[in-house]
Amino acid sequence: MREDIEKVIVSTDQIHEIVERLGKQLHDDYRDKNPIFICILKGAVIFMTDLIRAYDDLSEIEFMDVSSYGDAFESSGEVRIIKDLDVPVNGRHIVIVEDIIDTGRTLAALIKLLDSRGAASIKICSLLSKEAHRLINVHVDYIGVEVPDEFLVGYGLDYKNQYRNLPFIGVLKPKIYE
Ligand code: PRP
Ligand code: MN
Ligand code: MG
Repeated sequence: MREDIEKVIVSTDQIHEIVERLGKQLHDDYRDKNPIFICILKGAVIFMTDLIRAYDDLSEIEFMDVSSYGDAFESSGEVRIIKDLDVPVNGRHIVIVEDIIDTGRTLAALIKLLDSRGAASIKICSLLSKEAHRLINVHVDYIGVEVPDEFLVGYGLDYKNQYRNLPFIGVLKPKIYE
């Protein structure tokens, strides 16, 4: 698996520092608010599990699966809800947890949906942001790190559902997807 990686973009140590920083920031901001962390499957799973332990306070976790990419290399431009929430969110403080914001389509669609369900507040926490690829302008409240416009995998990010379990974020060798 690791021989398919050209270079490391965010190391395991850097990820750890980022997650600790974001967890502390969220802890300070959400004190006494009992937020719901909504993990966007599947990419955000790894980040979510580390983030909620860094948050270290009363909170709930829920999961949604919203896909825009499928197995294709480029975004299809469509956002499909594959798994919806099974709890009401009206009056609740929501933190949407994402691994990466690319075009912004997934998040724009999600914010609209959760807002229509009466959430008290909706904020976004994304480990990575690929600003160069943004098509829809979404405000991201908590960003781990800006990343270059390269094909990244690891720590939740996949290529054809593989490489999510790499403990760092790296660039995939072009020969893998060419
Ligand atoms: C990826 C990534 C984000 C989304 C970002 O998910 O995990 O959820 O795309 O892209 P966008 O900003 O252009 O909408 P993907 O749809 O590949 O599903 P996955 O998390 O199951 O891999
Ligand atoms: Mn995803
Ligand atoms: Mg994906």
